[in-house]
Amino acid sequence: MASINTIEFKDGKLCLLDQRKLPKLFSIFECQNYRDVEFAIKDMVVRGAPAIGVAGAYGLVLAASEFIELPKEEFLEQMKESVNVIGNSRPTAVNLMWAVKRMEAIIEENKEKSNVDIYKALLAEANTIEKEDLETNKAIARHGNEIVPENATILTHCNTGALATVGYGTALGVIREAYYSGKNIRVFVDETRPRLQGAKLTAWELVQEGIPATLIPDSVAPVLIRDGKIDLIIVGADRVASNGDTANKIGTYMLSQIAKDFNVPFYIAAPISTIDFEIASGEEIVIEERDSMEITHINGVRIAPEGIEVYNPAFDVTPNSNITGIITEKGIIRQPYSLNLAKLRQIQGC
Ligand code: MRU
Repeated sequence: MASINTIEFKDGKLCLLDQRKLPKLFSIFECQNYRDVEFAIKDMVVRGAPAIGVAGAYGLVLAASEFIELPKEEFLEQMKESVNVIGNSRPTAVNLMWAVKRMEAIIEENKEKSNVDIYKALLAEANTIEKEDLETNKAIARHGNEIVPENATILTHCNTGALATVGYGTALGVIREAYYSGKNIRVFVDETRPRLQGAKLTAWELVQEGIPATLIPDSVAPVLIRDGKIDLIIVGADRVASNGDTANKIGTYMLSQIAKDFNVPFYIAAPISTIDFEIASGEEIVIEERDSMEITHINGVRIAPEGIEVYNPAFDVTPNSNITGIITEKGIIRQPYSLNLAKLRQIQGC
């Protein structure tokens, strides 16, 4: 398997593989300070729920190093501001808030210690979050592989691979696992308008590894599903509510609805850090709206007339009733989600 370094903290800098430029250019975006990380998350240099969580954690390591010489009180003030800035850089994927909360807890626990000690503790926590992500994805992949039949055609949406995580991926991790365990699979990849994460990123990951894949316009998916060409749909998640309602890339809801009409199993693959136990249902999920230029322009060239109004939500919410199962690192959660996710929460103590 080709190794992709999406996120690397080295020599006191956060090095991100610039996903805005793939697959044409393979370039590294260096974050020297936490404002660079804020920019990188907002502008989608780094994207995908788990990846922005890890990047956010390192953003706070950079903040601690930036303010390390300040008197303790000012240092803590600046850290508070950084937590706020990083935590609010994108609103939908809960992994970002989850990682920032873990880092905030480290600051709180160590606040009586020196700034240097706080920095060291933050760096250790960010390293742990990074390491855990890869292990978690491998576990999701193993559980997910159990529901992939031999000779399966699998449809996926957006990018949930090594680029969206520290490595291996969630939904794409399941696909990888199925392929490397010797199953004869084919993947159908939605191009994923308007940012084209499917065409630019997922297709790139699959081609690099020689996993059989076909790229399709998003609007072809319903036809393939109706015609019995898809055995299974697996997508990722940006936030799962306590009742199983799931926010993911715009277009996911539409897929789930068609899948339900034609009895095609529809799975979410996501780490437990994507589950927001604080919210009861998908109604409480804030959906990010992105710049109208993502719709009116292609590669910087205007394609829509001046003066047209644009609505560009980046995510939608799939109701729990459309979801066959949620593949986590602790196994596959099925209906009734409110009950089974509550049980998972108890076991995890989160
Ligand atoms: O806007 P993006 O590219 O950050 O959206 C990504 C998705 O919607 C993914 O499906 C989700 O974050 C899961 S990534 C493992």
